[in-house]
Amino acid sequence: MNNQPIGILDSGVGGLSIWKEIVKELPYESTIYLADSINCPYGDRTEAEIYILAKRLVKFIIQNKAKLIVIACNTITVACIDKLREEFKGIPIVGTVPPIKTAARYSNNKKIGILSTLTTSQSIYQKRLIDTFAKNCEVVNISASEVVPFVERGEVEGKEVKELTEMLLREFLAKDVDAIALGCSHFPFLREEIEKIVGSKVKILDSGNAIARQARRVLTNNNSLSLSKNTLHEFYTTGNAEEFVKVSKKLVGDKFRRLIKEVQAVSL
Ligand code: DGL
Repeated sequence: MNNQPIGILDSGVGGLSIWKEIVKELPYESTIYLADSINCPYGDRTEAEIYILAKRLVKFIIQNKAKLIVIACNTITVACIDKLREEFKGIPIVGTVPPIKTAARYSNNKKIGILSTLTTSQSIYQKRLIDTFAKNCEVVNISASEVVPFVERGEVEGKEVKELTEMLLREFLAKDVDAIALGCSHFPFLREEIEKIVGSKVKILDSGNAIARQARRVLTNNNSLSLSKNTLHEFYTTGNAEEFVKVSKKLVGDKFRRLIKEVQAVSL
């Protein structure tokens, strides 16, 4: 059990922002990353549709003998994590949600922004997080599903993505939010663009490190942490493998690039 990998899944390349944090936090662990690139974006789909897609991803990860599943996708988590846990009882599942609690804590003027996909922004799950952790804050909830395809193509800078992001973030500036919760795993790759728009005084928060620490806690509690550093990182996509290699190597930066040796195309 201890030497089995951690399975990480997302609709596309976005979950690599969480994969990086997992590799940093748990350097002895092997990973299997699965991207449903052919069906990406998930962010405007109904919760019922997302559940059907996500089940296939979880089955693939289980077939590949992972000891833990990390859903590196806020949209899947808010849409159906409870149902997935119910259906796949034999494996622990850790989800990813917008870091609303942290944003509320960091905000001095108690005005926070949440940037997520349409499905996440409209979900009961997110509403509950706001009611629980940001009751004392004014919350500006923005859906930015439109930028996901840009990140999928590796376009995280340049005129087009800049103009779109500027347009989407206008309300954050107008309402003077001083902390932003990134509620989609694709968005940390746009951090620099977002920072340029909102300024360095606004705190931009993502959930990557918290998820990695949660993964560590679960593995510790189950006595299934890897005991030796004999790591293997495997990558699978339901889309075009060459495109995935190109984009992912561009997004993850120098330190992690060398870990992406090969990407295999799968049909689920
Ligand atoms: N990366 C996903 C998330 O965290 C969804 C992006 C998409 O497929 O729309 O929500």
